[in-house]
Amino acid sequence: MSLPYPGYFLSFEGIDGAGKSTHIEAFGELLKVRYPDHEVVMTREPGGTPLGEQLRNLLLDAPMNLETEALLMFAARREHIAQVIEPALQAGKIVISDRFTDASFAYQGGGRGLSLDKLNALEQWVQGRADGALLQPNLTILFDLPGSIAQARRSQVRAPDKFEKMNLEFFERVRQEYLRRVKADPKRFHTVDATQTREAIWEELKSLSIEFK
Ligand code: TYD
Repeated sequence: MSLPYPGYFLSFEGIDGAGKSTHIEAFGELLKVRYPDHEVVMTREPGGTPLGEQLRNLLLDAPMNLETEALLMFAARREHIAQVIEPALQAGKIVISDRFTDASFAYQGGGRGLSLDKLNALEQWVQGRADGALLQPNLTILFDLPGSIAQARRSQVRAPDKFEKMNLEFFERVRQEYLRRVKADPKRFHTVDATQTREAIWEELKSLSIEFK
């Protein structure tokens, strides 16, 4: 079922170190110029609201039970949808979120091993609409890269948070779950080969077009 919003919802995904953060701000600026009639809202998960940002601090720092972690991710997401994403889409804005539900499937599911049944149930609960449709991004740009390259890139630039301290096998599982999500819903995704140079990736992003309802 298609969604009734006049706005456009875009998410960026990828394993830590794949390079999405390098491009997301610039892509937002590009869309502002290209679609001057649509305000661009930049946001992120976990986070995006005052409550969500508090939950983010806990999630990225504190060790916790896997189910607790998934529930908090989706609690933050529910608040984000209600306070930020849906109102913006209803007002015709472009929402760009640095991560959304695919990250929960990839990290809590693929990485840490939470069952797909539980994740599907949470997704239905948190993104299900009264008309039966599921709120999903119109387009998800996935930065795809082998875990070993991502790990090498990460170690050069920053101190790791809780997730970034995980081992290579964890990130390979995260990557494989992202790729499984692409296969399950190929029309929603644009997969970028993140082993390319920064310039080549930017050219590829510039060539993407988005279509409003
Ligand atoms: P990230 O988006 O990489 O931000 P930064 O560039 O500031 O590090 O960090 C968010 C982390 O949260 C990342 O390691 C993935 C993790 N995460 C999940 O495990 N599940 C989720 O549902 C979301 C949204 C993020």
